[in-house]
Amino acid sequence: MKFNVLPSYEDISTYAAELVKQVVEEKNDAILGLATGSSPIGLYKELIKLNKEGEIDFKNVITVNLDEYIGLAGDHHQSYRYFMNDNLFNHVNIDKKNTYVPDGVAKDLNESAKKYEELVKSLGTIDVQILGIGANGHIGFNEPADELVLSTHVTDLTAETIKANARFFETEKDVPTEAITMGLGLIMQAKKIILIASGENKAEAIKALSDDMISTRIPATLLKFHPDVTILLDKEAASLL
Ligand code: GLP
Repeated sequence: MKFNVLPSYEDISTYAAELVKQVVEEKNDAILGLATGSSPIGLYKELIKLNKEGEIDFKNVITVNLDEYIGLAGDHHQSYRYFMNDNLFNHVNIDKKNTYVPDGVAKDLNESAKKYEELVKSLGTIDVQILGIGANGHIGFNEPADELVLSTHVTDLTAETIKANARFFETEKDVPTEAITMGLGLIMQAKKIILIASGENKAEAIKALSDDMISTRIPATLLKFHPDVTILLDKEAASLL
């Protein structure tokens, strides 16, 4: 794992965008594994800028997102499909047909999770996976538990995550209690992983990435087994390192 502490969130975003740009330069039909939440917003802003400047071409790029809330359709403002359209896809020359987000309103959610797993596998290997991290160490919606699931699955959200994500909703009661998420399998199979963390509330989780332990109770620690993880941090997130 490479820890890279940068002076500001803007620097993290620019650095991450440069890494993504390199991947797309090498392979114009790269598969980007994308994340939602506040952490990657700066990266997406930077990618939009680079695209407008002709520095990155999304024409043949494919994207697969990590997760989606159960019960929120793609046109719901807090759905992750909406987030991706709003923060990236609507502003770059990507073909929306090449952008995939799990379906949170499918009739049979388990079947839909299984199909998403198969779909992502059929597209190929994710060239670069962008990750944020929950304060409790979750990645995607792989929440702390005694056992972690490898494939895409439906999961309950922990009370801590519901609370943390309530800031995006009118009240905490509006936060969905379940989600559909890629498991640790697809994430760990990605060729390259970029994890973005900023702010003091991520410091504990980041500290757990730097020690000599792994635990399913801090899911992101499993990333220690991956050969190519870059962790981009601001000083606050790195404050306990
Ligand atoms: C959310 C998402 C994760 C994200 C994390 C951190 O619940 N499912 O993919 O990484 O929480 O979010 P933020 O970047 O807003 O702190």
